[in-house]
Amino acid sequence: MLTLKKQTSKSIRAHGVGVKIGFYLQKIKFLEVSFLVKQFEWVKTGDGSPTLKPRAVGSEWMHSKAGAWSETEYVYGHLLDKALPSSTRSMRILVMGLGLGYIELLALKKSLSINIPIEITSFEVESDLMDFFINKTLHGQGDLAEYLIAKDSNVDWSSVFRHGLELHKSSKLIFKSNILTEVSDKDQCQVLAYDAYSSGAQAELWTEDFLIHLLKTIMDPDRFYLSTYAASSNLKRAAQALGLKLVRRAGFAHKRESFYFEKI
Ligand SMILES: C[S@@+](CC[C@H](N)C(=O)[O-])C[C@H]1O[C@@H](n2cnc3c(N)ncnc32)[C@H](O)[C@@H]1O
Repeated sequence: MLTLKKQTSKSIRAHGVGVKIGFYLQKIKFLEVSFLVKQFEWVKTGDGSPTLKPRAVGSEWMHSKAGAWSETEYVYGHLLDKALPSSTRSMRILVMGLGLGYIELLALKKSLSINIPIEITSFEVESDLMDFFINKTLHGQGDLAEYLIAKDSNVDWSSVFRHGLELHKSSKLIFKSNILTEVSDKDQCQVLAYDAYSSGAQAELWTEDFLIHLLKTIMDPDRFYLSTYAASSNLKRAAQALGLKLVRRAGFAHKRESFYFEKI
């Protein structure tokens, strides 16, 4: 009886601790989510996929209002489809910037489906976005992961997320902060997905001088593929000065043109 009593009070105490831990986990979860929400507003784009709008005055949405996932597939899916099958060895991809991680997820998915190994370096100044990608999206949680799982039920998204976590663990998916100051020749790659905010919002990321510096620093001289959603004359001059060939494409949704370059 005494033993039973002891066990009961132990299990009540254990239960109490469990409830407390649960409460703190909930609190941490709420703080994490509310942290993103402090800086950004979640918004739904035309194809139902989510994007973020920074709360700062005059800022722009991270993606086309017509569709974040459709835009990513159109602009960067084309880039990856050109670049990945061209090699049997590992392809190094540089993404500017991470945002919600649409491009990284698309690259992980394609690398799995055609069995081409990849390494990704992703630039992002907002550390909360990096935390969100690693600790939520790659664990199948949050608005983007939930959208993809529901939309593409024929894709094994849990394998895609696991692939991302494994690459991250083996330092083959790495994150760097400010591309203006942190890019180095260690970031040499064959594929560049240039997904900065527009020149209206961040002119410093679209100057010809910076783009020449970036390309000189990261370009694999043997083969290189580059896409962006915009038709930037500065990028055109910078890329052509470094021997890249422009292949013009219609823009996504209301955009007139988007640029794809290659050196093969
Ligand atoms: C248009 S959004 C990218 C959207 C993203 N590709 C996605 O799939 O969600 C541009 C991103 O670049 C980041 N950024 C802005 N300035 C930067 C800089 N100097 N270096 C690195 N990232 C930067 C922003 O915080 C933002 O997340």
